[in-house]
Amino acid sequence: MKLAQIQATLESDLADVQAEEGLALVRARYLGKDGLITNLRKNVDFSTMTIEEKRDFGSTFNTMRDAAEAAVKAAATRIAASGRNESLKFDFTLPASDRRLGAIHPIVRTQIEIEDIFRSMGFTVYTGDEAVSEFENFDALNIPGDHPARDMQDTYWLENGMVLRTHTSSMQNRAMRQLGAPLRAIFPGRCFRNEALDITHENTFYQLEGMMVGTDVSVANLIAVMRDFLSAVFRTEIEVRLRPGFFPFVEPGFELDFRTTLGGVRRWVELMPCGMIHPAVLHAGGVDPARYSGFAFGLGLTRLAMLKHGVPDVRLFNKADLRVCQQFQATL
Ligand code: PHE
Repeated sequence: MKLAQIQATLESDLADVQAEEGLALVRARYLGKDGLITNLRKNVDFSTMTIEEKRDFGSTFNTMRDAAEAAVKAAATRIAASGRNESLKFDFTLPASDRRLGAIHPIVRTQIEIEDIFRSMGFTVYTGDEAVSEFENFDALNIPGDHPARDMQDTYWLENGMVLRTHTSSMQNRAMRQLGAPLRAIFPGRCFRNEALDITHENTFYQLEGMMVGTDVSVANLIAVMRDFLSAVFRTEIEVRLRPGFFPFVEPGFELDFRTTLGGVRRWVELMPCGMIHPAVLHAGGVDPARYSGFAFGLGLTRLAMLKHGVPDVRLFNKADLRVCQQFQATL
């Protein structure tokens, strides 16, 4: 390539470059070790040249190389300046172009509301772990390996023998061990079961467990706490009733229903399994059943959020369907 040609292609290459990376490539192409300009000198046979010829070549070459270096530098300055101009074009005082805010998920909203209510009644909030030991999820709750209740809570086992908790009751044992008696605590969180999915069954759902252990805790305390709690959630006086229910970790065990008007019809709605903590469960938690008694309840947070917001299908909660999520933005 002739000198004039090299100069011309360098100029047009530099004019095309828009970013620093591109500039480095152009520089290497002309001025690098194997560059077009660098090679001009390598390819000259100085042995056949007179002193004057060598001097001429040297000064022409140096002038050209210096000019090329200067042109690359100028291009670098131009690129840096255009970057700055780009950012100067952005007016930080303008309102965001997309002003839709995120929203708190309806289940989490329900959870936060309930936590506040229980805190006001002297309960502490713990979350616990989602992967727990088989003992915490089953055996400590009076559900040994051959108990049929295990079938109802079929779940996911990890390779290390841990289990994805099937209910927040898995926190009961740890709470008693760590906090001792007396105690008042709630444990909201995610639970997992191997379910055939339908409009009321999800493999991932939220519960909120509560327990109160003390020297004179009775069913009357259970009813009072539940009634106060539900009246606060629904912001109106709520009637509750207990029916017998069976869970290996409570004795006696109940299903708690509350009366409400849904779809224009006033009726009882089954809401919460609960009961007096079984002596074997207290014992496993290091609490003396001769001195202490307590109640426990397991609230279906997901179910309550469905009831509160009239959500017809539980699967909508985990789907991240914007049409669902956006309906809750306004209520942020
Ligand atoms: N853990 C039980 C379930 O998930 C519910 C429950 C909690 C029952 C506390 C009684 C007391 O089905």
